[in-house]
Amino acid sequence: MYILGIESSFDETAISVINESKQVLSSRLFSQIELHEMYYGVIPELAAREHVNKILPLLYSTLQDARISINDIDLIAVTRGPGLIGSLMVGVLTAEMISKALNINIIGVNHVLAHGFAFLADSNITEQDIFPLLSVVISGGHSEILLFQEDLSFERLGETQDDAAGEAFDKIAKILSLPYPGGPHLSKAAEQGNDSSFLFPNVKTKNDLDFSFSGLKTDMKRKIDAIIESKANINDFIPDLSASFQRKVVDYIMQNINKAAARYEHKEIVVGGGVASNKLLRAKCKDQNIICTEPSLCTDNATMIAVLGLMMHNRGINTELSINPSLNTI
Ligand code: KG4
Ligand code: ZN
Repeated sequence: MYILGIESSFDETAISVINESKQVLSSRLFSQIELHEMYYGVIPELAAREHVNKILPLLYSTLQDARISINDIDLIAVTRGPGLIGSLMVGVLTAEMISKALNINIIGVNHVLAHGFAFLADSNITEQDIFPLLSVVISGGHSEILLFQEDLSFERLGETQDDAAGEAFDKIAKILSLPYPGGPHLSKAAEQGNDSSFLFPNVKTKNDLDFSFSGLKTDMKRKIDAIIESKANINDFIPDLSASFQRKVVDYIMQNINKAAARYEHKEIVVGGGVASNKLLRAKCKDQNIICTEPSLCTDNATMIAVLGLMMHNRGINTELSINPSLNTI
C-alpha cells in the first residue's frame, strides 16, 4: 500500500510517499524561505501562488524518486488545517484532483497533531508500544501538550495562551537582526553565549500545563532596549542574550512536560515540531528518555501527514475534507 502525503499549510510545499509500514519511499520539500525573508514573515498571497507553481512539479519528482507511478497510490493524506487558507486550498485541491482521477480516498489531516506522529516514520518504534502517548508539539505556530489514546482520541492538557515558542524565538531574533526564520539562528548564536548572563521571571498561567511566551519576549525586549540605550554594541551581547533566553524557554518547556508526565499515565513521551530540532531541548529530552523526532521530521514535512493519515485510515477515522484554516488544533 502506498500513501501520498501532501502538505501546503504555510510556507513549505511538501510531498511524501510512505508504505503501510510507514517507511518513507521519498519525501521532498520546496521551502519558500527566500521568498518571504525580506518581509521577515510569510505573505499569504505570495505563499499560495508559490504553492500553485511548485506542487505539481514536486509531485512528479517525488513519485519519480519513489520509483512508483501515480496509479500505484492507494490513499491520499492532505493537510486540512490549521494554516493559511489560500495555501491549504492548493494542497486540498491537488488531493481532490488526484483522488477523482484515480478513484481513491482522501483523508484530511490536522497539521499540529501530525507533528506529534512524525517520529513513527522509518522508525523501529511501533504504534503498539506508544499509547497512551504524551505528545508535545512545539512549533512556530503552536505549543501544545496532548495525551493520545490508542484510538487517536486525545485530551489537550496544555497549550500556549499567546505566542508559540517558535514565534517567540523568531520575534526576538528579528529584534536582534538575525536572519529569518530566527529560531535556528538564535540557537546557533546561543552556542557561544553564557546562559546565566540574563535572568527571566517565572511564567504563571491559570492552568499550569499551559504555556505563555509573550511575557518572556517582552522581558527580553526590555533587556535589549536597555543595552541599546546604554550605547553599548548590541552585537556583543547577542550570544549571552540568546543563550539565556533559549535556556529559559527550554527549561520552561521541560518543566511543563515533567508536570504532565507526573500527572497522566503514559507509555511514551515525544517532542515534535520545528522547535524540537533545538539542540538544547533535544539534549534535555534525551536525558529523560523522551523520544525526540528526527530533526528532518521536526520542521514541516509531508511524511508526518502521510503517517497520521495512514493511522487514521487504519482506525476507520475519516474526516470531512473541508479546509479548516482555524489556528486551533481541532
Ligand atoms: O513546525 P515548523 O516547521 O512550522 C510550524 O508549524 O510552525 O516550526 C517552525 C519554527 C520556527 O519558529 C523556527 O524558528 C523554529 O521552528 N525552529 C527553531 C529551531 N529550528 C526551527 N527554534 C529554536 N531552535 C531551533 N533550532
Ligand atoms: Zn508545522
